[in-house]
Order: sequence, then C-alpha cells, then structure tokens
Amino acid sequence: MLIKWEDEYSVNVKELDNQHKKFVDMVNQLYFIINKGGDIKEEFTKIVKQLMEFKDTHFSTEEKYFKKFNYKNTEEHINEHNKLKKQTVEFFNKLSNQDSEKNYQETCFLLLDFLEDWFLSHLVNDDKKYIETFNKNGLF
Ligand SMILES: [Fe+2]
Ligand SMILES: [Fe+2]
Repeated sequence: MLIKWEDEYSVNVKELDNQHKKFVDMVNQLYFIINKGGDIKEEFTKIVKQLMEFKDTHFSTEEKYFKKFNYKNTEEHINEHNKLKKQTVEFFNKLSNQDSEKNYQETCFLLLDFLEDWFLSHLVNDDKKYIETFNKNGLF
C-alpha cells in the first residue's frame, strides 16, 4: 500500500471523504500493479483512465460547493485544480506514447510520485481549508 487512509485526512464532509478515499484506493491499485511487474500496460491504463474521470468529477463537486457557499479561496483553489488536471493529462499522454517497456515503467513511477504528492499537498492541505466554510453552511 502506498497511501494508508488516516482519520486526520478527513475534510468532515462525507461525500468528499468518500471521493478522496476512492482516489487513495486508485493510487494503491496502481502501486500494486507496478510492483507485480510483468506486462502491466493494460491494467495500469485502465486505472489511469478511471483517474482521468475521477479528477473531473471530484474537482467539479468541490467547485460546485465553492460557488454555492461563496468560498473565499475559490479562485486560488480552482487554479490548483486546473494545474493538477493539466499535469494528469500530460502524464496520460506520456504513458500512451511510450515505445519501450522500460520507459513505460519509468513513467508509471513518476506518475505515482505525482499522485502521492497531489494527495499529500493538495487533498490534505488545500482541501482542508474549506472545511470551516462547508461545515458552517451545514455541509457535513
Ligand atoms: Fe479534493
Ligand atoms: Fe481540491
């Protein structure tokens, strides 16, 4: 397991915690697939595609509440989301264009580093900033 879910990661909103847990789960699945070795392309790509969908669904869920509750860090937070979206798409394209097994594996590891960093720096730090506003507006 690459990331273990801890209670301290909670943003105190059930819907969003569930989405964050799903993210952790996908990252752990990717980690598992890489470590298993062999021909991982098909399995790996399948999860990366799920992640591509996840990012849009998840970010728009958060952004919907920013708007609804007039969240003060909206612009800053949306900029972060857009940056993460762009980087994920770049990784996806990079993976699709790898010609050798070795390069593919290297890109997989880079992607995992990126996702782990995303989890720790964005989900745990930036997302936590909205808890007060969301909870104050009755969203738990
Ligand atoms: Fe989030
Ligand atoms: Fe976020």
